[in-house]
Amino acid sequence: MKIKTIFSTGIFLIIPIILMFSYVNISAENGYKFWLNYKKIKNERLLEEYRNYCKEIIVAEDNEIINSARNELVLGISCMLGFKPDLTNDTVSSGSILIGSYLNSPLIEKLLPNFETNLKSFDGYGIISLEVNDKLYTVITGKTDQAVLYGVFNFLKLLQTNQSIDKLFLIDEPVNKLRLVNHWDNPSGTIERGYAGRSIFHWDKLPTIEPRYIDYARMLASMGINGCVINNVNTVKHNLTGWKLLTPEYIQKMKSLAKIFRSYGVKLYISVNFFSPVIIGKLNSADPFDPSVIQWWKVKVNEIYSQIPDFGGFLVKADSEGEPGPMKYSRTHADGANMMAEALKPHGGLLIWRAFVYGHNDMDRAAQAYEVFKHDEGKFSENVIIQIKNGPIDFQVREPVSPLFGAMPLTNQMLELQITQEYTGHSTHLCYLVPQWKEILDFDTYLNGKGSTVNKIVSGQLFNNSHTGIAGVINVGSDSNWTGHFLAQANTFGFGRLSWNPYLTSEQITDEWVKMTFGSDKEVVDLVSNILLESWLTYENYTSPLGVGMLSNGSGDISHYYPAPEKRQKFHHADKFGVGYDRTEETGTGFVNQYSKTNSEMYNNIDTCPDELLLFFHHVPYTHKLKSGKTVIQHIYESHFDGAERVFEMKKEWISLSDKIDIEIHKHVLNKLEQQYEQACLWRDTINNFFFNLSGIPDDQGRLLKNNNF
Ligand code: GCU
Repeated sequence: MKIKTIFSTGIFLIIPIILMFSYVNISAENGYKFWLNYKKIKNERLLEEYRNYCKEIIVAEDNEIINSARNELVLGISCMLGFKPDLTNDTVSSGSILIGSYLNSPLIEKLLPNFETNLKSFDGYGIISLEVNDKLYTVITGKTDQAVLYGVFNFLKLLQTNQSIDKLFLIDEPVNKLRLVNHWDNPSGTIERGYAGRSIFHWDKLPTIEPRYIDYARMLASMGINGCVINNVNTVKHNLTGWKLLTPEYIQKMKSLAKIFRSYGVKLYISVNFFSPVIIGKLNSADPFDPSVIQWWKVKVNEIYSQIPDFGGFLVKADSEGEPGPMKYSRTHADGANMMAEALKPHGGLLIWRAFVYGHNDMDRAAQAYEVFKHDEGKFSENVIIQIKNGPIDFQVREPVSPLFGAMPLTNQMLELQITQEYTGHSTHLCYLVPQWKEILDFDTYLNGKGSTVNKIVSGQLFNNSHTGIAGVINVGSDSNWTGHFLAQANTFGFGRLSWNPYLTSEQITDEWVKMTFGSDKEVVDLVSNILLESWLTYENYTSPLGVGMLSNGSGDISHYYPAPEKRQKFHHADKFGVGYDRTEETGTGFVNQYSKTNSEMYNNIDTCPDELLLFFHHVPYTHKLKSGKTVIQHIYESHFDGAERVFEMKKEWISLSDKIDIEIHKHVLNKLEQQYEQACLWRDTINNFFFNLSGIPDDQGRLLKNNNF
């Protein structure tokens, strides 16, 4: 593309560059840098191409987000190409990168007239190559500064993944407006379901800022995350103190965190307790209809916005697992949520209300959230969003999609995924969840005809809802590599990428992460990608067969980790004759009826119910034949033997990469795989023996199963 344009001068600011990247002090390969490690480019041909395009950076604005973008660009180019690009107010040589938001950069507007018509959203960006008067330019622009930052990260990714940056015309828009991470961190420093050390937020030291906060914000922005709920949804039970965040002292602490996040385009949100007017305000009631309660929330919200003008809003877990809610006053969830939303509304704040409620012990747990929320359809205010876990139980390795998705077309809905591996092996087992999340997003609810996928519902495309998106319970902590298991960073990254673009395939995301993290050596890319992509099904194989779920221990120090099928009868309903939870219309709980007709018929009929969910919907004899031709009991045995065996193979494959992967990282992952193999054998033996003891049916391959182990 050739554009004849004479550069006008004097419109750029020369910005002194103060690079304060905290991580340069941290030892080379401990995983701290995430996928932003900017390894030196080895391919000579590419190196030459990149150098030609990255000689200088022209920055059209001076503000905190653009400064973050500029700093990242300088860092990335310096590390990958081995020289520091010049920062200039005008073009000197060929090979300039121009960054700036479209409307604030007259030069960019001049070079790319009407370019903004290519962009649909505020976060979408373009990366465009131009040749002007025989000089090469790369323009990175969007409607907002935040879009420019996303563009810069993506430009750097092109280099990291060894792609050509010649003749680019790249436009990228997020599919979801809200792309949030949820911390389950407590002010005391502990993390509920956290497996990578303690909380990264040091409330005792805040408002003092630590370098790690900056690197965290960078990492979030690099994946396009635009909101962060910084504390646990449980704010009061078991003496938790998350409710404190609404006190003046903590609002000051939040203010300084919000400032850091702001410079990376990430809004700060907090979880709050519905009873705050009583706990903090010392009122007699938290009744959403009580005028003094309504007033208390208004004043509190005004106080927050006076300190944090771009505050995102509240996340609320109410009437669930010991967290109080409006039901105490015989009010509905809509009554409670709307009252709080009203206080946030004048400031543009959002009220995110969780649908994770259950508690009627005589009722099928899977059916409860739908029963409760369906009655409130059409009653929630415009700035309320219902955040729904992907499945009706609780982040199992396999469960169907929650029937609430799409069942409330008038209500804003958000998908909640769990990045931290509560039921999928903590930070010991490798269980890469992107393929699972893809299945969830691609699931067709048929609630508005064929193609009514979860993705279209939670991105607002199907029902035109105003506020929608995806939230992920994040897996980071104070460990030097952030995620405990180094390879669990792939889950962090995968979540971010899917929340930006759920149409990406698992393979594309994996390829990006592996190349950004380890470089582009083909053997490494192929092997690591394969290990990652197979790991979810492998974990499912040696833990929980055919959708039965909840076979892990319930409580104790390390809960939801070890096999404890003998304690989970109420979930699997296994006895001498058969196994599985009957949720059919005729003989079961009738849960199937919460789905669209197409899906309820499919699940209700044992012949059309997919094998992988058979035991979620049906109670069957052990001799029931699956579509594969195997009996249920033989499938259980074989999948467990195969799953554990596959972990052994994964370990061997990883060992074969020893001379291609940083020694510390290699050792660390190997150690994790060794532990995983040990645990996989434990799961295999416990589950197989459990079912052998109950059924009395031996493995048809004659493998040894232990009797009376329990
Ligand atoms: C699960 C998890 C809890 C968490 C809850 C929730 O039950 O085990 O720790 O608080 O989900 O999502 O609220």
